[in-house]
Amino acid sequence: MAKTRATYICQDCGAVHSKWTGKCDACGAWNSLAEEVTEAALPKGLGSGRKGRAVAFFDLKGEDSKKITRNITKIDEFDRVTGGGLVPGSAILIGGDPGIGKSTLLLQAVCALAMNGVRCAYVSGEEAIDQVRLRADRLGLSHAPVELASSTNVRDIVAAMEDMKNDLKLIVIDSIQTMYVDTVESAPGTVTQVRTSAQEIIRVAKKRGICVMFVGHVTKEGQIAGPRVLEHMVDTVLYFEGDRSHQFRILRAVKNRFGPTDEIGVFEMAHEGLVQVENPSALFLAQRQADAAGSAVLAGLEGTRPVLVEVQALVAPSSMANPRRAVIGWDSGRLAMVLAVLESRCGLQFSGADIFLNIAGGIRISEPAADLAVAAALISSLSGHALPMDTVFFGEVGLAGEVRQVAQPDVRLKEAAKLGFGTAFMPSFKSEKNREMAGKAPIAIEEIGGLADLAAALASASVQKRYA
Ligand SMILES: Nc1ncnc2c1ncn2[C@@H]1O[C@H](COP(=O)(O)OP(=O)(O)OP(=O)(O)O)[C@@H](O)[C@H]1O
Ligand SMILES: [Mg+2]
Ligand SMILES: [Zn+2]
Repeated sequence: MAKTRATYICQDCGAVHSKWTGKCDACGAWNSLAEEVTEAALPKGLGSGRKGRAVAFFDLKGEDSKKITRNITKIDEFDRVTGGGLVPGSAILIGGDPGIGKSTLLLQAVCALAMNGVRCAYVSGEEAIDQVRLRADRLGLSHAPVELASSTNVRDIVAAMEDMKNDLKLIVIDSIQTMYVDTVESAPGTVTQVRTSAQEIIRVAKKRGICVMFVGHVTKEGQIAGPRVLEHMVDTVLYFEGDRSHQFRILRAVKNRFGPTDEIGVFEMAHEGLVQVENPSALFLAQRQADAAGSAVLAGLEGTRPVLVEVQALVAPSSMANPRRAVIGWDSGRLAMVLAVLESRCGLQFSGADIFLNIAGGIRISEPAADLAVAAALISSLSGHALPMDTVFFGEVGLAGEVRQVAQPDVRLKEAAKLGFGTAFMPSFKSEKNREMAGKAPIAIEEIGGLADLAAALASASVQKRYA
């Protein structure tokens, strides 16, 4: 048996330390080191062990290149995020806050597949079989031929996977933090256990062409708990997020070896489980107030999908020496930039005011195309004039105050027109070809070259008249 020794492993980043310290040298986290017993490292390289057998090399093009068939759940919102179905032999990690609905989502996906005749297994390390049955019952899925187990021992799970030969197509491990390998002394949930457990399961899955879906818990900071290394070991990382106080949930791909990232799937949490939301824009705009100053609609894009959301700004006089800047759902650095550009290029005064920015509905926006909508919301709140209700905005703002092109204006315009918007404020077209493409949507276009133009346009008589 290999010699074991105690080491201290950072539970955030997986860095190994020989002594305990309060702060991890590698990632800077405080109090994240935990003692774990690991097998002593191999002495210097390969040493004098057996001579290796040379690996075989192959052509890129296989002889009879087998086409992989992805397993499609027919839950569109789910399939789109996975890149068009689950790839055999791939490993997927799905993270999310406690109680957000990870088990529900995966149970629904597995049942959908099982009902299409795909052999699926669901291993719960957190719930007893009866609890999973109870959930399936509530979701109306108890008739689905899913193979259910409650276990946390990786050796047993792997044995079952091997037993099912190549019949098994998908296995869900809920969650990876509860799994343990009995040859490792650390407690379940520690970096070493999580890593070793995932490694063992992935190894068998690759060999047998089984797709594995791991549930992973997230830390307070919103990262998948324990090791970042886990994110490197899997092919796809999905996050299931959403504001607990809102009904909708967003499934987002942050890494995908077999498909595009930044695709989203939108669901609504209902009694009978997660229901797909086919028109998220309508959902996000549902509670928009008429004639409220400081509200602008962004014609955004999430992956390939247009999403309209409301950007709310409040500019209020401040009594503090350092006025507040609070941002929810957007990047505070970008807010600071848009404010600075508005002040220096348009002569607007925001210093001495508290500024709050909120993306309504609890969704998080990361694309720079939101700049123009944020600027419009800020100008509107500052002036106290509401923006016309039927207007959308998109465009990136540069430091010189210029408004820059963003991806896929045609898709954004089409979605806005579909939802009944009449005018779009957007960057100037660079070419006639672009203009032609966008011209197809039945919506009036206001081309904005710079932020100064935006301020002037919003103050102009025609815009003012529309909310008079
Ligand atoms: N009877 C019910 N009616 C409506 N919604 C319910 C009902 N029971 C549970 N839910 C919803 O399901 C959520 C729990 O879902 P689920 O157990 O799938 O989450 P999870 O992410 O797996 O949680 P955990 O991290 O605890 O494993 C609850 O937060 C609640 O919103
Ligand atoms: Mg769960
Ligand atoms: Zn660390």
